[in-house]
Parts: sequence; C-alpha cells; structure tokens
Amino acid sequence: MGGMTLRKILLHPDPRLKAKADPIGSVDTELRALADDMLETMYDAPGIGLAAPQIGILQRMLVMDCVKDENASPEPMVLINPEIIGQSDELNVYDEGCLSIPDQYAEVERPAVVKVKWTGLDGKEVQEEFDGLWATCVQHEIDHLNGKLFIDHLKPLKRQMITRKMQKLKRELAREAKNG
Ligand code: NI
Repeated sequence: MGGMTLRKILLHPDPRLKAKADPIGSVDTELRALADDMLETMYDAPGIGLAAPQIGILQRMLVMDCVKDENASPEPMVLINPEIIGQSDELNVYDEGCLSIPDQYAEVERPAVVKVKWTGLDGKEVQEEFDGLWATCVQHEIDHLNGKLFIDHLKPLKRQMITRKMQKLKRELAREAKNG
C-alpha cells in the first residue's frame, strides 16, 4: 500500500468524457501506479467500475470489481487496451448507473455474454468471457474508452433529462465550492 491517491471523478457533461481514449503503448511503473489510484478511487466512491477518462486520463485502461457480497473476497481487475472480440446474441437488461452521472439510473440492454481481450498489468495478453453483472460492467467501461456514456444508449428525451439534472448538480457544486 502507500502512495495511492484518490483521483477526482469527472462529472457529465465534460468534453473529456466524450473523447476517444488513446491505446497504451507499454506497461510501466507509472501505469501500475495509475491502476492502483483508479482501484482506490473506485472502491472509495464506491463503484464497481472506473475507466481512465473518468479521471481525465485519455488512455485505454479500466478497472472493475463486480463482487457485490461484502463478505466475499474482492476481485480487482485491471484491463489495458480491452477489446470485445465476441458477444452473445442473447441480451440482458440492467439498471445502470455511472460514477460520472451520480444518482441517475436507467435500463440499458447489452449482450448478455462478451468475450474480451486485453493486456494485463504484467504486460501479457489475456482473454476471458464475462457474463452477468461483469458483462454489463465491462461493456459500460469499454464504452467510456470510446467517449460513450450509458445515457447514450437511451432515447434522446431521457438522455436530455438526465443531462439537464447533471448540469444543475454541477452548478450547485460549483456554487458550494465558491462559498466554501
Ligand atoms: Ni460509467
């Protein structure tokens, strides 16, 4: 432990959340430290997934841990340059939320099972199949790397409603920060 820093999570709307993140060239000490910070920030929030663009870093890395049972061991995962290489025809609907869009939830339909390829923190390529909440989460986080939010899967009216609520929240937070 030690040296981990909680990072500030960007709130929608923010242009950095709409940008496509860059591929990561090599896994080095700096990147491993960033992964530690991201996991720490995700657990602290608390959330089950966090993508680097959400802390303003436009690189293709995400962290997740979808173990919901507090008595079960945590399963922190770090995915570098993740890519979906297969998906089921079967779909699954989940009431999604996002650390960049606090307190807003909506049902999103996605493939129920996905096969994902990525580079691990040891620099080695990994392939794994995800289902259940893990499948929803990994797709949601990979969307972030492509500048896409879960609300982009919704009908425009619903998306605009959530965005307006977020604009209001950000104005309130800015006012509070100003007034101390
Ligand atoms: Ni999110």
